[in-house]
Amino acid sequence: MLFNRSMFRKKWSSDERLDEKTAIVTGANTGIGKETAWDLAKRGARVIMGCRNINEAIEAANEIIKDTGNTAVVACQLDLADTKSILETPVHILINNAGVVMCPYEKTTDGFEMHIGVNHLGHFFLTFLMMDLLKSSAPARIINISSIVHKMGKIQFLDLNSEKSYHPVKAYAQSKLANVLFTQELAKRLEGTGVTVYAVDPGMVYTDAIRHMNTLIQKIIKKYSFLVRTPAEGAYTTIYCAITPGLEHGNGGYYSDCGPSTCCRAARDEESAKLLWKLSCNMLGIRWR
Ligand SMILES: NC(=O)c1ccc[n+]([C@@H]2O[C@H](COP(=O)([O-])OP(=O)(O)OC[C@H]3O[C@@H](n4cnc5c(N)ncnc54)[C@H](OP(=O)(O)O)[C@@H]3O)[C@@H](O)[C@H]2O)c1
Repeated sequence: MLFNRSMFRKKWSSDERLDEKTAIVTGANTGIGKETAWDLAKRGARVIMGCRNINEAIEAANEIIKDTGNTAVVACQLDLADTKSILETPVHILINNAGVVMCPYEKTTDGFEMHIGVNHLGHFFLTFLMMDLLKSSAPARIINISSIVHKMGKIQFLDLNSEKSYHPVKAYAQSKLANVLFTQELAKRLEGTGVTVYAVDPGMVYTDAIRHMNTLIQKIIKKYSFLVRTPAEGAYTTIYCAITPGLEHGNGGYYSDCGPSTCCRAARDEESAKLLWKLSCNMLGIRWR
């Protein structure tokens, strides 16, 4: 199931311009996020790179400015594992890209398990803070980076923080399933506002995401990295959803390989999506109707 065409390399391009638009990309100092920010900057967008390591963010922003000649690329400190650090800026495109992948058990500043805390709750909260600004900037789009691994996920409603039992793959899969459920529920709530939302599977991409895997697996992935996607190729579907004209009809959809795709049945469960929304609000102490 995981080994399908989404792991193999593929080309895509578009001439769409983003002059006068503002985009925020989380986790933009490296990997898929950096390539996404780079591409949006080439298209003329003002890009805000929300990264937890400000020095790396500045370095990446300078690299992008030097290459693209677009000086409207800004580095911002943003730690999704600390809700107090989350920024507030007007945006037309919000790319919820940052993620931790199969790390050992760890908690965020707010006491959430790291995968659900960063990959889901951190972006849920960031999106909540950005909501009025996105609506007033409409038409606007939100892109949530999920993964095909969501198909292995199960939402543990009674133990979202994996305190009773923890497995890094399960915790990652749960967070990526949460990304798809969040996308669907948010899409319904945004109907008629001019803001649309998409979940994306970038495919299998060779990035630093393997940093927590064991050394042997890392070596094997490195050896065969030419088979899987480069970070630039991994950014294609994200960029496709962010810029393709007329995609509003796909609001709430799941995309891979620069087109609509099918998420698993658990990810289409409306009751689970509603319940996860409520639970997320309770955990974050926010009211988001
Ligand atoms: N690579 C793949 O094959 C693949 C497949 C499916 C889905 N994805 C998804 O694609 C997204 C990007 O992953 P990637 O492959 O580009 O991995 P990556 O190279 O490891 O990049 C992850 C990014 O997320 C940032 N991040 C982690 N924790 C954060 C926090 N608390 N606050 C703010 N930023 C944080 C990292 O910042 P630091 O550099 O400071 O750690 C880094 O910029 C993730 O959501 C991942 O789940 C990847």
